[in-house]
Amino acid sequence: MIRIEKLKKSYDTVDAVKGIDFVVNDGEILGFLGPNGAGKTTTLRMITSYLSPTEGNVKIDDLDVTENSDETRKLIGYLPEHNPLYDDMIVYDFLEFVSKARQIDPKDFPVRLREVIDLCGLKKVIHRPIRELSKGYRQRVGLAQAIIHDPKILILDEPTTGLDPNQIVEIRELIKALGKEKTVIISSHILQEIQAVADRTIIINNGEIAADGTVEELMSSFQGHTQLELELLNASDEDIHNIVTVNESITISTIEKKEALKYVKLEYPNTIDPREIIFDYANRKNWKILEMSRHKVSLEDVFRNLTVEGGAADAK
Ligand SMILES: Nc1ncnc2c1ncn2[C@@H]1O[C@H](COP(=O)(O)OP(=O)(O)O)[C@@H](O)[C@H]1O
Ligand SMILES: [Mg+2]
Repeated sequence: MIRIEKLKKSYDTVDAVKGIDFVVNDGEILGFLGPNGAGKTTTLRMITSYLSPTEGNVKIDDLDVTENSDETRKLIGYLPEHNPLYDDMIVYDFLEFVSKARQIDPKDFPVRLREVIDLCGLKKVIHRPIRELSKGYRQRVGLAQAIIHDPKILILDEPTTGLDPNQIVEIRELIKALGKEKTVIISSHILQEIQAVADRTIIINNGEIAADGTVEELMSSFQGHTQLELELLNASDEDIHNIVTVNESITISTIEKKEALKYVKLEYPNTIDPREIIFDYANRKNWKILEMSRHKVSLEDVFRNLTVEGGAADAK
């Protein structure tokens, strides 16, 4: 378990992380979502003990990472932002080099190497210089170096930035596969990324936690509305207006007419789903529903709402 308590980091004049608290449970894939400059990299660097906190602490299984950095770094695999690699090295040599730096017993190296080659799909490029690799393969090498010592925690800082759509899908699949065995923290400024891989999401904005929960929880904590569009035949204006009697939370936003057809837009809070009673009402009134379509607020709206200036307060 990773426990982050009152964690704070100030650079000269910038308070990059302003006293945040959260816990990552064993086996979880935690999405760490926030716009550029939110404090993601700073936080991840403190968890990996490459940066010491101004205040507060990070504990891994009750070990403080600043006081026990040798021990806790063994538990962590880290893929930094922009994935710095030695371009002139052959993939094999690079992984051997990392393995030595990680103090893996040389006699265990072949087994570890075989495992990361299999997991990360590196067979084709193992004897190629890193400089010749595509971005997707570079990211695979980055992941391989992060897991060569078989850490139980994997920390990935914006791992799909700069990849093309196919590569993004491949790397996400790989991250999900690794997440079956490990605790993963993956940062991103892209909501879809987090939505695709994470069990739980923490939204960080301006050095503070703006939200923490599953995608479903974040959606329901957000007081959004659903829009329902209806295309109706045989509906009188009076009956349309009376639709609000089926549930007092429904409001009518527009009614448009085109010959015998009526186009009606309704709104209601996300906490209710009155589609069935609307359908029954329509039946009683002998309306013919030609179309019923629903537009639900997306997590994108939640993210935007939480990260715009002052927006975070609305969601709490
Ligand atoms: N080494 C540094 N010196 C001064 N300010 C920094 C440094 N690193 C990051 N910052 C500032 O701290 C804030 C958080 O940055 P960062 O943690 O990199 O955010 P993110 O990874 O979410 O984009 C930003 O305002 C950034 O400009
Ligand atoms: Mg960053």
